[in-house]
Amino acid sequence: MSTSTNQSNSNAGADAVRASLPDGLVYVSGAFRSAADATVSVFDHGLLYGDGVFEGIRAYNGRVFKLERHVERLFDSAKAIRLAIPHTPSELCDIVLESCRRNAIVDGYLRVVVTRGPGDLGVDPRKCPRAELIVIVKPTLSIYAAPSTGIRLVTSTFRRNSIECLSPAIKSLNYLNNVLARIEANDRGADEALMLDMNGFVAEATVDNFFIVTDHALVTPPTATNLKGVTRETILAVAASLGIRTEEKPIALFDAWTTREAFICGTAAEVVPVISIDDRVIGSGAVGAVTGRIVTAYHDLVRSQGTPIHASRPSQELAASFKV
Ligand SMILES: Cc1ncc(COP(=O)(O)O)c(C=O)c1O
Repeated sequence: MSTSTNQSNSNAGADAVRASLPDGLVYVSGAFRSAADATVSVFDHGLLYGDGVFEGIRAYNGRVFKLERHVERLFDSAKAIRLAIPHTPSELCDIVLESCRRNAIVDGYLRVVVTRGPGDLGVDPRKCPRAELIVIVKPTLSIYAAPSTGIRLVTSTFRRNSIECLSPAIKSLNYLNNVLARIEANDRGADEALMLDMNGFVAEATVDNFFIVTDHALVTPPTATNLKGVTRETILAVAASLGIRTEEKPIALFDAWTTREAFICGTAAEVVPVISIDDRVIGSGAVGAVTGRIVTAYHDLVRSQGTPIHASRPSQELAASFKV
């Protein structure tokens, strides 16, 4: 049987499972439940105070890309807010892979959320004895209308949270800083907002890191003012493998406006060319040559690496705890 026939058979199988479960199975409160039954308490501090952390992860071709790195970052975010995740990193990887299997995922987007859990009114986390783990899996997710031909950015008047207030390295459930910037971009007819740090240098977009291409290198801001993006670090490695010089240094708005090429990147959006910033056309207004090479190399990498969804099974003890 040819590979393409195998692929179409497995896609047909996945389609059949999804047709029977249009919104999929969600892992919550220690069990897999239909999306309609997947609920959390109204006293959950994730809901009441944005007290929790999350990850966005992607699967391609039956593999989860950078699974261990995302789980590591989730544990780092949780440590920073002193949230005890009630699983080991390896158990969490198993739950993510099992979520993919239960939802017949070949390609898809995964959201892993850990909240402080149900407590009582009042911000004190000691009111919440048990953290809540949620895993949502979707076959597709779209962030921008026409990502391949490039998007238009505007600089937000909202500055990215400073490390003195809420470190952007913590991928927390409190995204209002980013939401306000995205609302502003929507109101101004742009596709996305570019957020500056408290010193006026470029920090990142609302859910993506930012790169420019200069005459000398591919440049991105140091991570002190933005999320330590998994895609960002992957692209720095991809660029090195292509022989493209990289630099991590602050980017002034002037340098962003006048750069030859720019793009944003993140797990969900992948690599998205930027064609204008604050109505200044970037380069020729089309996708630049370096950006094009990065897009292609990233596309090839994510489809050729990752943790296989079907190769391993969770421990018997963990599997026994999965209900439904
Ligand atoms: C604020 C912010 N910056 C950057 C990113 C990109 O991070 P990653 O490449 O790990 O998805 C995200 C992803 O959600 C984000 O929320």
